[in-house]
Amino acid sequence: MNDVARASLDGKIALVTGAAGGLGQAFAERLAQDGAHAVLVDIKPCAETAALVEAAGREAMSVICDITSEESVAYLAAEVEIRFGRCDILVNNAGIYPIQPFEQVTFADWRRVMALNLDAVFLVTKAFAPGMKRRGFGRVVNISSSTLNTVASGYTHYIASKGGVVGFTRALATELGNHGVTVNAISPSLTRTPGTEGRAPRQGRASMDEEFEQIARLQAIRRVQMPADLAGVVSFLASDDAAFITGQTLYADGGMVRV
Ligand SMILES: NC(=O)c1ccc[n+]([C@@H]2O[C@H](COP(=O)([O-])OP(=O)(O)OC[C@H]3O[C@@H](n4cnc5c(N)ncnc54)[C@H](O)[C@@H]3O)[C@@H](O)[C@H]2O)c1
Repeated sequence: MNDVARASLDGKIALVTGAAGGLGQAFAERLAQDGAHAVLVDIKPCAETAALVEAAGREAMSVICDITSEESVAYLAAEVEIRFGRCDILVNNAGIYPIQPFEQVTFADWRRVMALNLDAVFLVTKAFAPGMKRRGFGRVVNISSSTLNTVASGYTHYIASKGGVVGFTRALATELGNHGVTVNAISPSLTRTPGTEGRAPRQGRASMDEEFEQIARLQAIRRVQMPADLAGVVSFLASDDAAFITGQTLYADGGMVRV
């Protein structure tokens, strides 16, 4: 690690949801490498991510928490208050992406996707953004998806939830912009993570490897997106250099979406 180049988040407290693996793990590791202590939140143990954060020389606090529960998020906020007294950077990352044709989506399916992908973004932000506003500094980074623009089939609930994330990002940025708190989103293309690798491929594709390659060919940069392609973008949005960027959705997707 190059300490000179990477000290922009020195001493900051960064909370990442869905931090046990996948993108959340990459974000937490990179934020730690760039100087932040990390609060790792997931329904699964975050021991592996905690080890990466500690290897970067920062403190890791792991909290098992179902962020779709208001009660659990209140517990999380209380624990963070006790341990660190604040949260400076919030990465709302945890999300699910089940593929279901609209006819098969029950209201329970719809609610399950909304509960994690949108309601939990509200709950966790509600728990930590007021403190950021009070202290006059904060960074909220939400994770949307390029599917919002490419509009893949089987994703009515997912795309609706990620559109909600973009709307929430813009609206909250408006309210917090004058208080030192920025709110932005990133929009990735299909990225190799345990979640996507473990998924069944879409109809007509033999394997997820084939699907990864096919999607990559639609991007301007025709290789499969990896978590490392996004981690630095999140860290940048969390940094002082991004202090004048807010309400934006950054398409970090290899040129999948060109707007
Ligand atoms: N991987 C991709 O291709 C891709 C593309 C665009 C957007 N995204 C978005 O990025 C985010 C992360 O995706 P990923 O591929 O790393 O997912 P993943 O499935 O690999 O990891 C998600 C993590 O969230 C955790 N989680 C699930 N339910 C939770 C809950 N109720 N409370 C707390 N944690 C919970 C899981 O345990 C898991 O560790 C999601 O919001 C996803 O929609 C992913």
